[in-house]
Amino acid sequence: MTTGFPLFPPGFTFGAATAGYQIEGAYDEDGRGPSIWDTFSHTPGRTAGGATGDTACDHYHRYPEDVALLRGLGVDSYRFSVAWPRVQPDGRGPVNEKGLDFYDRLVDELLAAGISPAVTLYHWDLPQALEDRGGWRVRETAEFFGAYAGLVAERLGDRVGRWMTLNEPYCSAFVGYAEGRHAPGAREGTGALAAAHHLLLAHGHAVRALRAVGAREVGIALNLDRIEAASDSAADLAALRRAETLHNEVWTEPLLAGRYPQDEAATWGELADGSYRRDGDLGIIGAPLDFLGINFYRPVTVADTALPIRRTAVDIGVRETDPYGTRHTTMGWPVVPRSFTELLVGLRDRYLALPPVFITENGSAEADTVEAGTVHDAERVSYLHDHLHALRAAMEAGVDVRGYYVWSLLDNFEWARGYTQRFGIVRVDYGTQQRTPKDSYRWYRDLIASHRSHH
Ligand code: NOJ
Repeated sequence: MTTGFPLFPPGFTFGAATAGYQIEGAYDEDGRGPSIWDTFSHTPGRTAGGATGDTACDHYHRYPEDVALLRGLGVDSYRFSVAWPRVQPDGRGPVNEKGLDFYDRLVDELLAAGISPAVTLYHWDLPQALEDRGGWRVRETAEFFGAYAGLVAERLGDRVGRWMTLNEPYCSAFVGYAEGRHAPGAREGTGALAAAHHLLLAHGHAVRALRAVGAREVGIALNLDRIEAASDSAADLAALRRAETLHNEVWTEPLLAGRYPQDEAATWGELADGSYRRDGDLGIIGAPLDFLGINFYRPVTVADTALPIRRTAVDIGVRETDPYGTRHTTMGWPVVPRSFTELLVGLRDRYLALPPVFITENGSAEADTVEAGTVHDAERVSYLHDHLHALRAAMEAGVDVRGYYVWSLLDNFEWARGYTQRFGIVRVDYGTQQRTPKDSYRWYRDLIASHRSHH
């Protein structure tokens, strides 16, 4: 299936991605403190089958084997996240050296394998002690995050070139504090909007801390959505504007245009009271980025519903429809590669100052067929193939894309869906912790090798 594949330019980065809580396990080892995901997953009824990340893929102990898998894949770069509660068990105060030592060992193992580390500083595992003080609802959390970022950067900055401050702050703010499907499981209005603002501020503080130690490439990983209206009716078009505000503009306007979204009042009414904002915040948030990370999986179509009484920040009078008529992954997500091209081209058209882009996640959850010694995952291969083509089309249309990280190296803990969703290009047997590369692993390996042989 790689035959005739359009080549990416020389220097294009191929990578694979994971996140701490989803793979590490060892949740109470070497001084790690509890995070909101430990609390949440240990609360009955919160995750599918009561799954937790207590053991996950046991990557904390098996990282040499996982780095060997990355080396076999031939990737240029590996994106992983540092768990804040390993570094600062309470989210503030002195460093837990043993926690940082783990990432030190991992970084050295990667470099020895010829792989560049790309570090995410926050992939949703807020120290529980900070949640107990208000979590992302309160401003001090953003300041603590800046200090934590500085500690990690001081220790790893000599060997890590690429940094992402936050991963998908949309999920941290709105899935965590408004929908309540993710930790900490809150259902709030203004609290969730305050969380979104404080996450942006945290990003800004972290950018400063990273620059202070001379970090070379600093960015953020956002899950921006390609959103379409169900019809041309004025009501559906207004619903589209509200959905754009909630999903995209909360992040892109302050980060890329130095302003708050224009349609906040129409989207949230009195919930967006601005009480959490201060003069000067936009200047901190809007510090220039070296790259924008984008996580992309699927498009969304929205239709208007009567505007409800707004109780949470996700009550914006919008419902999702699914007009695509295509295959769906086991997450229930429609597979529509063209929407990937459209999202990227649309962003470039809207933000003249769009920094270079890295695709920091893309992949699919599938029901894999396991056979003796191997795993056949033709659907995942076709998903990756088609999305890489769509990415190439965006680049041909002039979008400056520098690299692509497949989600994920390993099957792992898919948050509220527990272990029911397999995104890996390597299968993990959670009983034995055995890793089995899937057909998609070999396909991606061959793609990278053929890219290299052409340049
Ligand atoms: C987004 C998240 O960053 C990651 O943690 C998650 O597993 C994937 N997308 C798939 O849902």
